[in-house]
Amino acid sequence: MADAPLALLAELTHRCPLRCPYCSNPVELARAGTELSTGEWERVLGEAAELGCLQVHLSGGEPTVRRDLPEIVAAARGAGLYANLITAGVLLDAPLMARLVEAGLDHVQLSIQDAEEAGAERIGGMRGAMPRKAEAARLVREAGLPLTLNAVVHRQNLPNLSRMIERALEWGAARLEVAHVQYYGWALLNRDALLPDRAMLDEATRVVTEAQQRLQGRLVIDYVVPDYHAKRPKACMGGWARRFLGVSPAGRILPCHAAESLTGLDFPNVREVSLRAAWEDSPAFNAFRGTGWMPAPCRGCEHAEQDWGGCRCQAFALTGDMRATDPACALSPHHAVLAEAVASAGAPDFRYRGFTREDILPSHDVRLS
Ligand code: SF4
Ligand code: FES
Repeated sequence: MADAPLALLAELTHRCPLRCPYCSNPVELARAGTELSTGEWERVLGEAAELGCLQVHLSGGEPTVRRDLPEIVAAARGAGLYANLITAGVLLDAPLMARLVEAGLDHVQLSIQDAEEAGAERIGGMRGAMPRKAEAARLVREAGLPLTLNAVVHRQNLPNLSRMIERALEWGAARLEVAHVQYYGWALLNRDALLPDRAMLDEATRVVTEAQQRLQGRLVIDYVVPDYHAKRPKACMGGWARRFLGVSPAGRILPCHAAESLTGLDFPNVREVSLRAAWEDSPAFNAFRGTGWMPAPCRGCEHAEQDWGGCRCQAFALTGDMRATDPACALSPHHAVLAEAVASAGAPDFRYRGFTREDILPSHDVRLS
């Protein structure tokens, strides 16, 4: 019997006013008309709590494009879940913040694309995003909620990392997550424009390490290093279907946010089965649990129960075989593809997602560049 999951990643929508080139959402996005209804999310949140989840991360796309977000937060709290909102912040105004606080929101995780306005606008693909984010941070702190800033870093904003850390202090964040891009979905299409070289990575690690020591007691800094310079893979999601599960905007129940990229696995849908049935009994969730599925060189490896063979989605994206050892491992026969990708990276133009204004709720005054 599988242990209970700790947290549910609820992807409320794929719609988003930003168009970040490193987005890990699928290349094919769920359209608004296929999204789960308020009532369906309320049921799913109850099932998550009953299954043993303690937290829900309300994510997207941009979750604040959904008008029913306060009702969904209230349902999460009603089910006894700790409710964390993962947002770009550009639609988070005072009335919405007040409704979210009233609904019982516990925590806000706010993304920043760069330290200064021009870079942030270019990377996020939205004019005027930075002042809106600053205002969102102010509203979160004014409401007394804890704030985490999330900075996805890459070749084009790493030179500004020190100033992004200063932003986190200015905006009153208690925590900053500095996360190198993970190359799934749209991010993989932009890999050449995003991958840092070794010298950039080493400098980023130096900046983070220095700041972690200097800011002890003021700001916690988490650091997620990139697979492409690693010798061992990360334990993606803490291991397949061990700690987390996700639900996509259209209701597919997934072991990780990128699982829809995998072909050949049939992921159940909340419209047809319960979260418990998916978690405990579905072939897709059981496909890579534990170590029994592992091929060589993972099979029998001393690290097998630490990294669980790495990331299935990365293995599939880079080798075409979701059962293969993650190429981030130096023991993988495909390890060289990572070094080749680093060597060929440069700074070509970004490929942005093609959202139209109609993809976003027309009631919001969103200025798309
Ligand atoms: Fe991890 Fe497999 Fe590499 Fe061993 S061989 S370190 S289990 S990815
Ligand atoms: Fe799917 Fe790593 S993102 S297993």
